[in-house]
Amino acid sequence: MGRAPGSTEARAGKEGSPEPNPFDDPAVAARYERWYAGEGAEADVRERQLLGRLLADFPQAESVLEVGCGTGHFTRWMGNHDFRATGLDPSWAMLAETARRDHGPYVQGDGHGLPFHDQTFDLVMLITTLEFLADPIRVLTEATRVARQGLLIGALNRNSLLARRYVRSGNPLWKSAHFFSVNELTDMTVKAAGRRLGAVAWKTTLWPLRSLPALPLPWGGFIGLAARLHGPT
Ligand SMILES: C[S@@+](CC[C@H](N)C(=O)[O-])C[C@H]1O[C@@H](n2cnc3c(N)ncnc32)[C@H](O)[C@@H]1O
Repeated sequence: MGRAPGSTEARAGKEGSPEPNPFDDPAVAARYERWYAGEGAEADVRERQLLGRLLADFPQAESVLEVGCGTGHFTRWMGNHDFRATGLDPSWAMLAETARRDHGPYVQGDGHGLPFHDQTFDLVMLITTLEFLADPIRVLTEATRVARQGLLIGALNRNSLLARRYVRSGNPLWKSAHFFSVNELTDMTVKAAGRRLGAVAWKTTLWPLRSLPALPLPWGGFIGLAARLHGPT
């Protein structure tokens, strides 16, 4: 995710959130993709490699919704891999940046109440979005409702040096973020998916340990978690 450097003051509020959404700030939105092109380029490659491996668990999946798509970085990536990809985000500023890069479909909306019918998408993906939500379990429950086959989650690991580095950076963007450990992420997914939950698989990227691939180690910086879903009972 674009861990946008620099400072911002959060401006507008968002539905269901305890705090304003820092990504409503056009200045944050405008510099967001720069992180992927610069200091975040290697992390981006590692994260996509990990998500790509987890995606192999869903060979039948053809459509995906990204909740909290931001500037559409991962939505576009899925679209480039032949998925019918839709992005949703509450921030008009972030969506304006997606519109400069591709034509979507992108939808303005809040993950706490997704504007889609049950099981509209094969997969629902949330990449570095749970950290910024008022009620992540409610959003994961909504994600489960609109997903047919599974959830794909990417999140910064609370039990990692990387997350500590972000907190210590003093960047106000991270003030409103809440980080999760692998266990917390798994527990939330289990709760949200309920009886529809099949298997859960996760790995972490070990960047900046460059030579190592993603592994199931609970202290890696970025957690990739895939949850397979059964049909509704
Ligand atoms: C760190 S960005 C991640 C963007 C994108 N997934 C990526 O990794 O590049 C977090 C995103 O979550 C969005 N967000 C915040 N509150 C949300 C909510 N209630 N529902 C859906 N998305 C939300 C923000 O607007 C922001 O675009």
